[in-house]
Amino acid sequence: MGSITLIGTGNMARTIGTLALTGGNSVEVMGRDQSKADDLAKTLGGGATTGRWGAVPAGDIVITALLYDGVVPVVAEYGDALAGKVVVDISNPFNATFDGLAHSEETSIAQEVAKVAPAGTDVVKAFNTVFRNVLEKGRPDVFIAGDSAQAKAGVAAFVESLGLRPLDVGGLKMAPWLEGMGLVTVGLAGKGVGHWDFALGVNEFTG
Ligand SMILES: NC(=O)c1ccc[n+]([C@@H]2O[C@H](COP(=O)([O-])OP(=O)(O)OC[C@H]3O[C@@H](n4cnc5c(N)ncnc54)[C@H](OP(=O)(O)O)[C@@H]3O)[C@@H](O)[C@H]2O)c1
Repeated sequence: MGSITLIGTGNMARTIGTLALTGGNSVEVMGRDQSKADDLAKTLGGGATTGRWGAVPAGDIVITALLYDGVVPVVAEYGDALAGKVVVDISNPFNATFDGLAHSEETSIAQEVAKVAPAGTDVVKAFNTVFRNVLEKGRPDVFIAGDSAQAKAGVAAFVESLGLRPLDVGGLKMAPWLEGMGLVTVGLAGKGVGHWDFALGVNEFTG
């Protein structure tokens, strides 16, 4: 199976890390607070390791499990340490009232990450449309966007190793619409569906 590094030590890092280990992947944790990284690696068990903040990640796939406004600065701070990696942005840049994006609708955190990432780094948007509780309890579809077919294939294989279904929505220019889907999901949780135990997915009606 694959190797991943989680940059971030919060809820999504814990959930994705747990699923990744169950799926047979090796997991490294990095946090700006080293003690939180050490604690999470210990909690995860399964041979999870920690890396030093800003060092070259051990994982081929680097998941930035950070609040949205930290993602671009942290990728810029890591700089060349991320060269050759596949960086997966999972963030939802919601505005303060959760009814719009925190940035212009003509971009996305993932596209801004691609601008600051070193040459040879591929950026993929994934996981942002899925609430953490559904990742823990269900088998939701995970939509992914990115410009490199090879990088997306690697992320898709990782998603499959978690027991989830990856669905490619296209190039990185689709990332704003995935961020919009994140908003739709929150809207549904508050209105039409009325709870958080669901995920957007694809039903096929063929034949
Ligand atoms: N939770 C969900 O259901 C869900 C679903 C889909 C996508 N997401 C997205 O996943 C990301 C992580 O969510 P979460 O629920 O795991 O959040 P969380 O539990 O609050 O964890 C956030 C992590 O980001 C770190 N962080 C925040 N700002 C940072 C900065 N400027 N520099 C470095 N590290 C920073 C925090 O570090 P410290 O502990 O040191 O502050 C913490 O490790 C978010 O972008 C969110 O939109 C969440």
